[in-house]
Amino acid sequence: MTARYALIGHPVAHSLSPRIHAAFGEQCGIPLRYELIDVPPEGFAAAVAAFEREGGEGLNITLPHKAAARALCATLSARARRCGAVNTLIRGAGGWHGDNTDGTGLVHDLTERHRLDLRARKVLLLGAGGAAHGVAPALLDAGIDSLWIVNRTPERADALSDRLGEPGRVHTRYWKDLPELGVFDMVVNATSAGRGSDRMDLPSSLVSARTLAVDLSYGEAAIAFLSWARAQGCETVLDGLGMLVEQAAEAFRLWHGQRPDTDPVYAELRARGPALHSAE
Ligand SMILES: NC(=O)c1ccc[n+]([C@@H]2O[C@H](COP(=O)([O-])OP(=O)(O)OC[C@H]3O[C@@H](n4cnc5c(N)ncnc54)[C@H](OP(=O)(O)O)[C@@H]3O)[C@@H](O)[C@H]2O)c1
Repeated sequence: MTARYALIGHPVAHSLSPRIHAAFGEQCGIPLRYELIDVPPEGFAAAVAAFEREGGEGLNITLPHKAAARALCATLSARARRCGAVNTLIRGAGGWHGDNTDGTGLVHDLTERHRLDLRARKVLLLGAGGAAHGVAPALLDAGIDSLWIVNRTPERADALSDRLGEPGRVHTRYWKDLPELGVFDMVVNATSAGRGSDRMDLPSSLVSARTLAVDLSYGEAAIAFLSWARAQGCETVLDGLGMLVEQAAEAFRLWHGQRPDTDPVYAELRARGPALHSAE
């Protein structure tokens, strides 16, 4: 029987993950079925249990289920424990094993695909949700100098900072303090603001031409932040499409024991232009 995998979230209709995993499977000669499961929070645990009963081998987890997924794992990888968020479930003998591939996906995209050196950068992380939790430890491990976390709800920024446990390198500030924080070498937009109609108010003093601006979203959801960064003169401005492909490749490796070549899949998706919906 063909092994079953799925992305579970709410909503998931526009997800690129089925296409990405199908391409990886074809490339590696691994037959697989990858479905989309759209379920609201109250149905999450039952949907995962049903998937498990029906023989499902692995799940990707997206909004709004990353915290709930962590709670139902029998075991967690070290990086999932450090992130406090799970985006990949692997079926094991004793239940689900939870991992998080977002951080390694982002760093792989930036350092391997775009050949960027993250070391010694002063980094601003906007947002403290699931994606911010996923990428923060990997950014620290990549050798950045300091991480400044600013979130609309400040308590969530504090919680993320506490979890990271590096008070010398990780700082939190209020949104209203942004104009006083000086220039950053890298600004990461890990908010979902671009998916709605709210505009984020960001001062131009945060960036210079040398600032690397990265939005974890892609497609329409990334347009507002990336346009802002370009208008400020940032020379390197990247969306989250590469991260999406790389975090999927890492999940594929966890499930199948092989890391696919991501370049052709990335190139094919990139060629489709900005009309992609940010769904993961
Ligand atoms: N490329 C990839 O592979 C990848 C992977 C994961 C996520 N993502 C993208 O990352 C984004 C965030 O995902 P998530 O899972 O972290 O979502 P989440 O857990 O719901 O967190 C959303 C974050 O955005 C903030 N936010 C929402 N609207 C805002 C606004 N108008 N102004 C300022 N802040 C706002 C929230 O602040 P509060 O805490 O105040 O609500 C929170 O920090 C999504 O767009 C998602 O598509 C991409």
